[in-house]
Amino acid sequence: MKQATARAHPNIAFIKYWGNADEILRLPVNSSLSMNLDSLHTTTTVAWDETLRRDSLMINGEVANQVALERVAKHLDVIRERLNMSEFAKVESNNNFPMGAGIASSASAFAALTVAAFRAADVALSERELTTFARRGSGSASRSVPSGYVQWFAGEDHESSYAATFAEVNHWDIVDVIAIVDSGHKKTGSQDGHKSAETSDLQLARVAGAADRIQSCKQAILDENFAQFAEVVEYDSNLMHAVMMTSKPALFYWKPTTLTIMERIREWRQAGIQVCYTLDAGPNVHCICVREHAEVVREQLMSISGVLDVVVAAPGGGTTVITK
Ligand code: DP6
Repeated sequence: MKQATARAHPNIAFIKYWGNADEILRLPVNSSLSMNLDSLHTTTTVAWDETLRRDSLMINGEVANQVALERVAKHLDVIRERLNMSEFAKVESNNNFPMGAGIASSASAFAALTVAAFRAADVALSERELTTFARRGSGSASRSVPSGYVQWFAGEDHESSYAATFAEVNHWDIVDVIAIVDSGHKKTGSQDGHKSAETSDLQLARVAGAADRIQSCKQAILDENFAQFAEVVEYDSNLMHAVMMTSKPALFYWKPTTLTIMERIREWRQAGIQVCYTLDAGPNVHCICVREHAEVVREQLMSISGVLDVVVAAPGGGTTVITK
């Protein structure tokens, strides 16, 4: 038996990935930018075992459901092909955040799974190649492999669609203060959401401007220019949700509390607090702020009715092998 354990953080996208040019290879229609979230992590052990007759998956100490197992087994098939190997694997994955908290775990899950699977097989891939394989499991997982602030280049084929660090983890002291407003599982997951993106008339316009927004957001991060950062990050999130809302069928992820928080954030910013919002495919609000304003933002969020919990995360490192 050959086994390894890896740990990965989820990430929050500042410029979003929404829609694939190639669904099988998970080639996105636009490049994206994100930051890893240090306080949240997934720890995954992969054991390749020649005596196994199928793959198995445990998540947080329980046998995973069939849908999750099939997605993982499909990803292991892709890895087996690269390894030219036929052994099955026993996979055990644990999140330090509750699955029902509405915090997406597919990025950290597939980043940790990919890195552990190759390491367990004693095959050392470059970070760049690891990002391309993590991408095959979940697009955003490619961004959880490198450390800190990361760009995922859309690319044109498997090899050219990869992610890389553009600013180190300690480059800029900003924090993601996540307001949890709903703990249930989303009705439409990202996989189906990506498919419906092209049914919105707005998607073409969103994609056409993505390169400029990447440039502006990246420069704002490198210059630590919060005003420029806030403008492009909120705009990009609004654009993605406009696409979602105008897709067929329409996807509305916001709850009334989501909208309340977005309104309050604009007020707080006018009052001098350096904070802005961004939302993934769910109603939770990621409030990105400078470290010195994190505590006041957390307290204010806690006082809003409908906010169930607040989770704070600073920029995080990349995926690491913990034991081999
Ligand atoms: C809204 O990476 O979860 O969070 O490739 O189908 O697993 P799959 O999709 P996923 O999509 C993330 C969508 C998003 C925006 C983002 O993180 O860029």
